Amino acid sequence: MKEKKRILTGDRPTGKLHIGHYFGSLQNRVKLQDEYDTYILVADVQALTDNFNNPAKVRENILETTIDNLSAGLDPNKVTFVVQSMVPEIAELTVFYSNLVTVSRLQRNPTIKTEIAQKKEIFGNSGESVTYGFLGYPVSQAADITAFNADVIPVGDDQLPLIEQTREIVRKFNLLYGEGKDILTEPEAILSKNSRIKGLDGGVKMGKSLGNAIYLADDDETIKSKVMGAVTDPNKIRKDDPANPDVCMVAYYHKLFSDDSYATVCDECKAGARGCVNCKRELIANIIKKMEPIRERRRYYETHKDEVKDILEKGTKKAREITKETLRQVKSAMKIDYFES
Ligand code: TRP
Repeated sequence: MKEKKRILTGDRPTGKLHIGHYFGSLQNRVKLQDEYDTYILVADVQALTDNFNNPAKVRENILETTIDNLSAGLDPNKVTFVVQSMVPEIAELTVFYSNLVTVSRLQRNPTIKTEIAQKKEIFGNSGESVTYGFLGYPVSQAADITAFNADVIPVGDDQLPLIEQTREIVRKFNLLYGEGKDILTEPEAILSKNSRIKGLDGGVKMGKSLGNAIYLADDDETIKSKVMGAVTDPNKIRKDDPANPDVCMVAYYHKLFSDDSYATVCDECKAGARGCVNCKRELIANIIKKMEPIRERRRYYETHKDEVKDILEKGTKKAREITKETLRQVKSAMKIDYFES
């Protein structure tokens, strides 16, 4: 029996995490780690659906992604870190679930639809860039979640269609194979308050590939030069011109990093009583202050990588006790447990 409700969430190890990830999910994970039995999946198999031609990149980022999570404040004594490819039960479940999802349902999944549209922009309209594995990654994500019998999934809003897809698979599985019982748990998403953080350039999303992000690993100088280049109100020419904080990315980040002074920032900006350079300097100081404990933990883990490897190895081992049991129940419900008893 579970003592606490269980969380399963994860990241694709494809690059460093940025403050969009911090506000969008990491902060929430940190907040929830005491209340829930938390598992963090380093989703290398899912990363390969998009990066099968670059396995070295995925490999390098296994430790990076884990260190980002630890630096954000996840406590390895409370939280279990798991490497997806080292849990074969997830791959097996993916195969069984793939019968419960139609191809057209996957093609209609809003997250997949957006990602396919992006691929077509890059690779042309033939659709040939879309592999079977890519189209099927929501099925594999359903396997991630259900392998752990997770109750709750804290995610950003771009992931909601994937959680919905998981819920459908769970309902179908239970209906088909449960004989009136719920074999699998139907998970619920918890959305972060700041689910989507805009980029320094004012773009709707901070993105690894968009060049508009502040990374958790950025040093002071990098943060300074990035904030100095952030987009402000283009109509403000002189230091004491009144301006509109609603179109200014510096004001936008003040809201995230300068809780107490945000109202003052906006008032002074509108009144023309706040020059952009000073406003940016204040923001830089507040970002650096907020990042300091994160960076301090990073310094520790970066010089103790063996400890991080150990956290992953032990965590994965612990995880398999759960996933093996889930697979046993799934196979029994599907009547393919031939050699058991
Ligand atoms: N799809 C998630 C992302 O791109 C990563 C992920 C993999 C995940 N498996 C998961 C998230 C299970 C939540 C639950 O960020």
